[in-house]
Amino acid sequence: MSDKPEPPLSAIPPQLVSLADYADRAAAHIPTAIYEYIVGGGADEISLKRNREVLDRTLILPRVLADVTRGTTETRVLGEQFRHPFMLAPVAFHRLVHPQGELASARAASALEAPMVVSTLSSYTLESIAAELTSPGWFQLYFQQDRDFTLSLVRRAEAAGYSALMITVDASLHGIRNRAQRAGFELPPGVEAVNLRDRPPLPGAVLEPSQSIVFQGMMTEAPTWEDIAWLQARTQLPVILKGVLSPADAVMARDLGIAGLVVSNHGGRTLDCVPSGLELLPAIRRVVGEEMTLLVDGAIARGTDAFKAIALGADAVMVGRPQLYALAVAGAQGVAHMLRILREELEVCMSLAGTPTLADITQDALYRPD
Ligand code: FNR
Repeated sequence: MSDKPEPPLSAIPPQLVSLADYADRAAAHIPTAIYEYIVGGGADEISLKRNREVLDRTLILPRVLADVTRGTTETRVLGEQFRHPFMLAPVAFHRLVHPQGELASARAASALEAPMVVSTLSSYTLESIAAELTSPGWFQLYFQQDRDFTLSLVRRAEAAGYSALMITVDASLHGIRNRAQRAGFELPPGVEAVNLRDRPPLPGAVLEPSQSIVFQGMMTEAPTWEDIAWLQARTQLPVILKGVLSPADAVMARDLGIAGLVVSNHGGRTLDCVPSGLELLPAIRRVVGEEMTLLVDGAIARGTDAFKAIALGADAVMVGRPQLYALAVAGAQGVAHMLRILREELEVCMSLAGTPTLADITQDALYRPD
């Protein structure tokens, strides 16, 4: 870590061969407090660590001598054809780590035909990012207290050509971010939530001494199931809920006509002491059926991680922090390289496991000791 971060590299050194290499290298390119904000999780980081532990203890059972010469990583998600199942998760403020921010990430996603989910809290406008994207772009929505303003964000996303709305439902509050607090993280000058510039000022709620700053304060902005239904009735875009872990919530979402879910604990950054998305994926797949789109994220950093997620019921996976590490280290070419590594690792894994298509990757491809 450094308070004098190195500028992004202009060429990728041959030693950078995995996402872990980018993660290690990133510390030298990101100011300390920002690095801590990115890398950290909620409270004691139990969920953050669990995301990696669960992936590590899930093992693959390869089948040999299969013909994979017609192999492909192609998949259909929400009616769109994807070349591979890796997506860029919505991540706020890419300018924290690179002056070109989301514009560079969008160029990289386009080069690798990876869908990008653009955060409400992007540091370039959602329109300018869409202008860089030739791969599918989805817009991640954080509900705002002013519902008309929320709807105006949706209208902007529709006009800019985003093809799905991903509403994040697990982060109405930041959660307890002790690591970022200890490091004194705050947004540096020049980095802001540009999409929210025209947001009407919040009516300053005056709380009675008996009222809670959380329940009657911050949570008054949080959406409920009624708000989701309200928004669904006002857009033609498919709606995906991000941050669902409970099978009961998954059923409620499906019954409401929600097109897909991201089974996720927000990279271990919101409520601590929750299981990883991967752990709940099979149960959620069971209760919602085969039709509903299920994505998963949390610690995905290898082709084998994606393989495991697909075996457990995911249609595609999203990567969060690795985007920022690669962007900090080598800008757009770093993010493109990161995506290429993932795609190639998945192809190698599928070949060696004897599963030529994503449809062949079922729970039988995992090792389950008796
Ligand atoms: C996030 N994430 C996130 N999610 C979201 O819906 N909107 C957002 O603006 C952000 N912002 C954000 C910032 C940073 C710095 C991080 C690390 C994460 C969560 C993100 O979409 C994803 O769920 C996790 O990052 C996945 O875990 P990994 O891949 O980072 O382990």
